[in-house]
Amino acid sequence: MDILKIENLSKIYGKGETAVKALDNVSFSIRKGEFVAIIGPSGSGKSTLLHMLGGVDRPTSGNVFVDNTDIYQLNETQLAIFRRRQIGLIYQFYNLIPVLTVEENITLPLLLDEHKVDKQQFAEVVKILNLQNRLNHLPNQLSGGQQQRVSIGRALISHPAIMLADEPTGNLDSKNSSEIIDLLKMFNKTYNQTLIVITHDERIALQADRVITIEDGRIANDEVIRP
Ligand SMILES: Nc1ncnc2c1ncn2[C@@H]1O[C@H](COP(=O)(O)OP(=O)(O)OP(=O)(O)O)[C@@H](O)[C@H]1O
Ligand SMILES: [Mg+2]
Repeated sequence: MDILKIENLSKIYGKGETAVKALDNVSFSIRKGEFVAIIGPSGSGKSTLLHMLGGVDRPTSGNVFVDNTDIYQLNETQLAIFRRRQIGLIYQFYNLIPVLTVEENITLPLLLDEHKVDKQQFAEVVKILNLQNRLNHLPNQLSGGQQQRVSIGRALISHPAIMLADEPTGNLDSKNSSEIIDLLKMFNKTYNQTLIVITHDERIALQADRVITIEDGRIANDEVIRP
């Protein structure tokens, strides 16, 4: 089953002489549970693509279907709810809220949705992420690896269908980097969560089921490594 279908997606930033065509008529589909790596040179449109897939920023033209919903037909409120429930986003620089504790950062998406926190499920996630002893700490009291584990917790807590990660290990040393990728892979396999990771690291790309290469806003290559 295709969880994600992108049709003729284009994104142009700016207008007139300074206009930049960041995505140029991109189409592809991704199956539920697939682990896809996105690679390509700096400025090729990878982050732009991820933002379009996650409902973060509207495309100039084209469609994004998530679970058969044409997400850019939704109004802003509906789109915000869709993002919170269906998409887990992870960034290179964590994007945690500095004045909230680890526990508050992780449970934020549930609270915004007025959902009660399932204590048992929370405890399970925290244990897997090995953050039990840091729940009352603030982000600036944590190591980089710990901060990234918090952002994974926040992305996971509402069991989104799709996890999107933009260079999640770009700021980490190799030990923390493999730990983070192992965690993402574990959730991908255990919960059949679709995982899309932008990376410059070939070792990470080679662990994916499929590698999509973006160049100049287009798909230059799309290769299945593990069918
Ligand atoms: N908000 C914006 N306004 C104008 N141009 C933008 C904006 N965001 C990105 N761009 C341009 O769009 C193109 C694609 O940018 P994007 O961030 O998607 O690249 P990337 O592949 O993620 O690069 P990197 O590997 O360096 O993160 C670039 O030429 C960039 O300058
Ligand atoms: Mg980028």
